[in-house]
Amino acid sequence: MTSQKVAVITGSSSGMGFETSLALARNGFYTYATMRKLDGGGGSKQIADIAKNENLSLEVIQLDVNNDKSVTDAINRIVSEKNRIDIVVNNAGYDLMGALEETSIDEIKSQFETNFFGAVRVTQAVIPMMKKQGGGIIVNTTSLGGRISFPLNSAYHATKFALEGLSESIRYELEPFGIKVIVIEPGGVGSNFLKNLKMATKTSDPLNAPYRSMENRISEYFKQWSQNAIHPSEVAKVILQAVTSDNPDLRYVVGKDAAMA
Ligand SMILES: NC(=O)c1ccc[n+]([C@@H]2O[C@H](COP(=O)([O-])OP(=O)(O)OC[C@H]3O[C@@H](n4cnc5c(N)ncnc54)[C@H](OP(=O)(O)O)[C@@H]3O)[C@@H](O)[C@H]2O)c1
Repeated sequence: MTSQKVAVITGSSSGMGFETSLALARNGFYTYATMRKLDGGGGSKQIADIAKNENLSLEVIQLDVNNDKSVTDAINRIVSEKNRIDIVVNNAGYDLMGALEETSIDEIKSQFETNFFGAVRVTQAVIPMMKKQGGGIIVNTTSLGGRISFPLNSAYHATKFALEGLSESIRYELEPFGIKVIVIEPGGVGSNFLKNLKMATKTSDPLNAPYRSMENRISEYFKQWSQNAIHPSEVAKVILQAVTSDNPDLRYVVGKDAAMA
């Protein structure tokens, strides 16, 4: 077993996953920056270039949190290469926006598939290694939106509230094995989050769009929110501090807006 601690981060192609992978690699962790697309462009090339320039112990590997095989292949590979996994950061996620009435069950299921079941899949895959080595830390990125809710985001909030509940429960369940569970609750963060946002495609009645004025108000709110958003490296700093603490808290609220709310 290597003595260097090993970290695995999902959704490392941009935003918080990208910055957290770099922060952990810069602070001594052998880091697997996982992402679903390894096209040589976008985030995979950018992070690999930074790692090369800074001589960081960072590898980019494929992991789609929606896909059982992709998750088990990635985790099995890490276990066979390093025989340990100390930190896993369940970060991959996106926002599905739309009034519940106008959101299809399939769209809501897809939102859960990534934001909730994706984290479950990765967590289930790493627990055996963490138990075997006598400890580890599971970091679940929820949100300010995992504590309070806004209109037209019900499916997103539901996934994040669900992940909060799961995290609280497994924190007790995994404690006897030395495994810690941490929840990161950021407010507005300037990442690709808004670019990657999906809108519900079903419109109940386009001529009588009943949610139009609410949508306009929420768009205004999002504009303001993105102006005040913090850099994703701020969240990475908090994650680094949490996973290197002897006695981490369960919840870390990140950003003034989240703290105020
Ligand atoms: N930005 C905010 O204000 C904010 C606030 C609170 C919480 N959060 C949460 O923070 C996390 C990171 O978001 P971010 O702000 O950094 O946004 P981001 O820049 O859009 O990053 C999201 C990451 O998730 C990845 N992803 C999506 N579906 C995936 C899948 N099936 N398998 C693997 N990776 C997948 C994306 O990969 P692709 O490049 O392939 O799409 C991307 O790397 C999310 O869970 C989000 O809900 C964000």
